[in-house]
Amino acid sequence: MSSQLEYGTVSSPEDAQQLGKLLSQCFGDSLTDWQPYFESIGQDNFRCIRQAGQVVGGLAIYFMGQWYGSQLVPMAGIAAVGIAPESRGTGAAYELMKGTLQELYDRGVPISTLYAATQVLYRKVGYEQGGSRCCWELSTQSIQIKDRHLPIQSITPVGYEAFQDLYSQQAQLNNGNLARHQALWKRVVESSNEQPIYAYLLGSENQPEGYVIFTQRQETGGLLIGIKDWVVLTPAAARRFWTFLADHRSQVSRVRWFSSPMDSLTLLLPEQTAKIHQQERWMLRIIDVPKALKKRGYPLSIDTELHLQVRDDLFPQNNSNFVFNVSAGRGEVTKGGKGEFCLDVRGLASLYTGLFTPHQLQLIGHLDATTEALSRATQLFSGSSPWMPDFF
Ligand SMILES: CC(C)(COP(=O)(O)OP(=O)(O)OC[C@H]1O[C@@H](n2cnc3c(N)ncnc32)[C@H](O)[C@@H]1OP(=O)(O)O)[C@@H](O)C(=O)NCCC(=O)NCCS
Repeated sequence: MSSQLEYGTVSSPEDAQQLGKLLSQCFGDSLTDWQPYFESIGQDNFRCIRQAGQVVGGLAIYFMGQWYGSQLVPMAGIAAVGIAPESRGTGAAYELMKGTLQELYDRGVPISTLYAATQVLYRKVGYEQGGSRCCWELSTQSIQIKDRHLPIQSITPVGYEAFQDLYSQQAQLNNGNLARHQALWKRVVESSNEQPIYAYLLGSENQPEGYVIFTQRQETGGLLIGIKDWVVLTPAAARRFWTFLADHRSQVSRVRWFSSPMDSLTLLLPEQTAKIHQQERWMLRIIDVPKALKKRGYPLSIDTELHLQVRDDLFPQNNSNFVFNVSAGRGEVTKGGKGEFCLDVRGLASLYTGLFTPHQLQLIGHLDATTEALSRATQLFSGSSPWMPDFF
């Protein structure tokens, strides 16, 4: 059956219409929602799978970047993977993902990230858990922080330019944070349902030290502030951020925001009243092993060498031994070496992001290594737990 499947671009208005129809059905959206979604990503960034010439599935690619070790790694975010119900179970999604990854390899994109409705499909093509997206919830009564030293300014979020630079300063220090695609930025500053969006700069207008962008909605138990995006760059901004949210407590009972499962902002709170409301893990695929290792940053003080042996069923170029040299925070990769640190490409994904340590990955069978190699890899891939606030 899969031999009749053909991977390709969305080349005609008829293809685009068919894809819109079937993806809307797959995700329970209306066709009216499809057009702005399609336009925000752009026809060039959709791919489809055809069976006997008919579009039976497709996906979207966000070409963007992801920060690892303070370096921006080019990344392809995959979204809206969908197959027409009548064509499911025949390997169409598998072929679509395989075709996409091959194209990304040929285009020189080193890594890809996605949110999975089912891990089974994506694991088959080499993705593994890479990091978290964590929704925290806190009662405004329990914040109890009063520090109004820093000014705070309301601004109209007419575009995202005012926030972009502040965002980048924070993102580059957090493994897994995105260099956002403009469609994702638009979702931060634009309202999808006429709900007002409130935006504030923390600090003076000339030298802001952070920002908060949010909506409010009525829930059982009172108003809820849903933070769409936030940046806090200094201790004063962190205290102002909490004070500002606490100042809503006469009407707003709770606040929700997206962060790391190890959110350092919660360290300022007097008690452990912030709770994780919801958490999910995104998945990552190392598409080009040498390139991905070279693009990432590493701890500056480490000067070491790791002899890798990587297994990858999809890309023979990755299925090899590599000598990985790290010095002054950057890595170099050459083929060969003793292969004393053996792992599959999925294990490498969880190691690369820093979600799991080499010891943890060895324990569940993703890697096999000498004690010495294990210790060097632990140092190389140490850092903050990978996360992103965005969903796509
Ligand atoms: C999920 C979806 C894309 C799978 O499409 P499909 O063409 O049926 O998948 P394939 O036939 O290529 O299956 C590939 C593998 O994934 C597995 N798989 C597919 N759907 C699965 C599911 N819902 N749960 C668990 N495993 C699944 C298959 O069993 C197969 O593994 P196997 O060969 O070991 O049996 C399709 O069901 C769909 O469009 N669903 C609605 C939209 C959606 O949820 N998309 C995913 C967004 S991340």
